[in-house]
Amino acid sequence: MSLHIGDRAPDFTIDSTKGKIHFHEWAGGSWVFFFSHPADFTPVCTTEMGRTANLAADFAARRTKPLGLSTDTVGEHLKWIADVNDTQGADLDFPILADKDLEVSRLYDMIHPEESETEAVRSVFIIDPERKVRLIMTYPMNVGRNFDEILRVIDALQLADRKTVATPADWKPGNRVIIPPSVSNDDAKTLFPQGWEEVRPYLRMTTTD
Ligand code: BEZ
Repeated sequence: MSLHIGDRAPDFTIDSTKGKIHFHEWAGGSWVFFFSHPADFTPVCTTEMGRTANLAADFAARRTKPLGLSTDTVGEHLKWIADVNDTQGADLDFPILADKDLEVSRLYDMIHPEESETEAVRSVFIIDPERKVRLIMTYPMNVGRNFDEILRVIDALQLADRKTVATPADWKPGNRVIIPPSVSNDDAKTLFPQGWEEVRPYLRMTTTD
């Protein structure tokens, strides 16, 4: 199955390092950062798991629950977590799904057969509280993900929802934002009383507080 932005995130039930997870129920009213890994006890994955654990407060501040997936068993995951904590100075407390049979990996199109028939590539799904897929990123097995970018895009999505804006290239919190073309100048006067700079009629820059 291939998933697209805007699709409803498929539900599933599977064992994890925190017991059985019923995905939609577990997600509750939170955002979810769902990310897959090829296998336990591999170097790139170990750094990514440690980085996620060490960003626990940053994810919590964004009302976002991390959820890992690796195509190994709960027993292997638990041994690996001890290694992650040891080597990355972490205290990993989010669940890792035990997708030994590739059930969830297939459901979320994380198996790219030319890369591996049995291991997931590095997929990221950002899922909103309505269970809608809001971002999909796919990295190859030998390149670790950029976690500053993952936090940045969650910030951008949440700001876009709150303020009806779009964010320009390389946007960071505090930078100017874009008034989307779908917003007329009349509506913009109400939505953005602080005003805007019209660089072009289709490129209107404004501020957020
Ligand atoms: C890693 O996590 O280090 C890794 C996993 C599979 C292939 C290459 C690297």
